[in-house]
Amino acid sequence: PENVGILGIELVFPSQYVDQTELEEFDGVGAGKYVIGLGQSKMGFCNDREDINSLCLTAVHKLIERYNIKYADVGRLEVGTETIIDKSKSVKSVLMQLFEPHGVTDVEGIDTTNACYGGTAALFNAVSWVESSSWDGRYAIVVAGDIAVYAKGSARPTGGAGAIAMLVGPNAPLVLDRGLRATYMKHAYDFYKPDLTSEYPTVDGKLSIQCYLNALDNCYQLYCKKASQRSLKDKTVDLSSLDFLLFHTPFCKLVQKSVGRLMLNDFLNTPSEEIPHLYPGLDNFRNVKLNECYFDKNVEKAFVTCSKNLFENKTQPSLLIANQIGNMYTPSLYGGLVSLLVNQNIEQLAGSKIGMFSYGSGLAATMFSITVSKDCNDNSALYKLKSNLSYVKKQLEQRKKVSPEKFTSILELREKNCHKVPYEPVGDIGDLFSGTYYLTKVDDMHRRFYSRF
Ligand code: ACO
Repeated sequence: PENVGILGIELVFPSQYVDQTELEEFDGVGAGKYVIGLGQSKMGFCNDREDINSLCLTAVHKLIERYNIKYADVGRLEVGTETIIDKSKSVKSVLMQLFEPHGVTDVEGIDTTNACYGGTAALFNAVSWVESSSWDGRYAIVVAGDIAVYAKGSARPTGGAGAIAMLVGPNAPLVLDRGLRATYMKHAYDFYKPDLTSEYPTVDGKLSIQCYLNALDNCYQLYCKKASQRSLKDKTVDLSSLDFLLFHTPFCKLVQKSVGRLMLNDFLNTPSEEIPHLYPGLDNFRNVKLNECYFDKNVEKAFVTCSKNLFENKTQPSLLIANQIGNMYTPSLYGGLVSLLVNQNIEQLAGSKIGMFSYGSGLAATMFSITVSKDCNDNSALYKLKSNLSYVKKQLEQRKKVSPEKFTSILELREKNCHKVPYEPVGDIGDLFSGTYYLTKVDDMHRRFYSRF
C-alpha cells in the first residue's frame, strides 16, 4: 500500500475549563505567570463522570460516525495512554464494547504506555501494520487519550485532558514519511507515576525541561542527518526544509523556546564564514555547547528573538488546542496537528512538509515528518479531513468556565474517590457535549459502566 498515513481525526475535549488568569490570582502567584510565563490561557478538566475509558469511547464512536465507517472495516485499534486505571485490562478491550454489537471481534492492537509518547508509538504500530504482510485491507484506528492532573503547586497549571482518534490507512492526505525517523530514548526520572493509588505524577520540573530539550537536540540532529543522506543530491537538511514544526506541548512557552533551540542547532551547524551573513549579531555564540546551555537566558533570548518570524509562520498556528485546553499528554502533538489543520488555509497545507517532535518523559522521543497531499480540491481527502474538523473552534467556544474554587474541589473529589468502590459519580452531566460517554457507576468488583449523553 502506498501513502500510508492519517485519513481522519476526531478530537474530544472536556466541556469545562478553568481560566488561567483566574487561577493565577487564586494560587497567589504573580499576575501573568501562567498566561505569559507559560503561555497558557485555559485548562480543560474532567469531573468524576469522565475517565480514560469514557474519553476514548467518545473519540472512537464520534470518529466512526463522522467518517461513516463500518465497524467491520476496522482491523486494528491501538491505544496510547498514560492514564492507567487498571494494571491488566486495556482501554482497548473496553473499546471493544463499540464493536461487539456489530459482530466484530477480529481487531488487533492493545495499549501502549510511556508518558506522552504512547500515542506516537500507537501511530507507528498502526502504520507498520498497514505497510506489513499482516495487513488485510482494513483501516486502523489510533486513539491517544489522557487526563493530565497535577498535585497542588507549580505544575498544576500545566494540566489538561482530552482524546484524539485517528483513522489510518493507505492513500492518506497526511502521509508519514517512510524510513525517516529519528529516535532518542534514555532512562530518566524527570516525570513518572510510581504511586499507583494516585492520578498525580512525581515531577522534577526543571529536569523534565532539560530532558525535553536534550531529546529535541538529539532527534533533530539525527533527523537532519538521515534526511540529508536520503536526499538525492545530499542536500543539507535544516529548518528551511520543513514548512511547519509541531511539538509535544507541555505548555506553549516551551515550544517557542524549542523553535529557538532548533535555530541554535542550525546555527551551530553553519560554517563560520557564513555566520555573519546568515546570523548577523550572533557571532559571539559560536562556541556555545548544546548540553551546557539548557537554561542559559542569553542564548535562549538571542535565538527566540531571531526565530520569531519562523515561530509565527511555522509553529504558532499549531498551538491553538494546547493554549486553550492545556497539555493533554499523549494527544498533545496531535492536537497540534488539529490546530494547524483548522488554522491554515488548505492551499498552504497542500504539498507541505510537517516536522513532528514527540516527547514522553522517562524518556522516549522521536522526530518524524508528514507530507501533506497536493490535492486539495473539494473532493479530496485533505478537504474532507479539514472540513470534518470545522466543529473544533465552535466547540471550544461552547465550553463552560468553572471557577478555580470549583475546579480545586472537583480535583479533590477525584483524588478522594480515585479507586473507591462501589462508587456512584456525582458530577453534573448536563453540560457534557452531545455524544459524550460518561461513567454511571463502579460496582464492588471495580467494573465500570457507561452511558452516552
Ligand atoms: N509574569 C510573567 N511571567 C512570569 C511571571 C509573571 N508574573 N512569574 C513567572 N514568570 C515566568 C518565569 O520567568 C518563567 O519563564 P522563563 O522560564 O521563560 O523565565 C515561567 O513564568 C515559569 O516560571 P517558573 O518559576 O520557572 O515556574 P515554576 O518553577 O513554578 O514551574 C514548570 C514551571 C517547571 C514547567 C512546572 O509547571 C512543571 O513542573 N510542569 C510539569 C512538568 C512539565 O510540563 N515538563 C515539560 C516536559 S515533560 C511533560 O510533558 C509533562
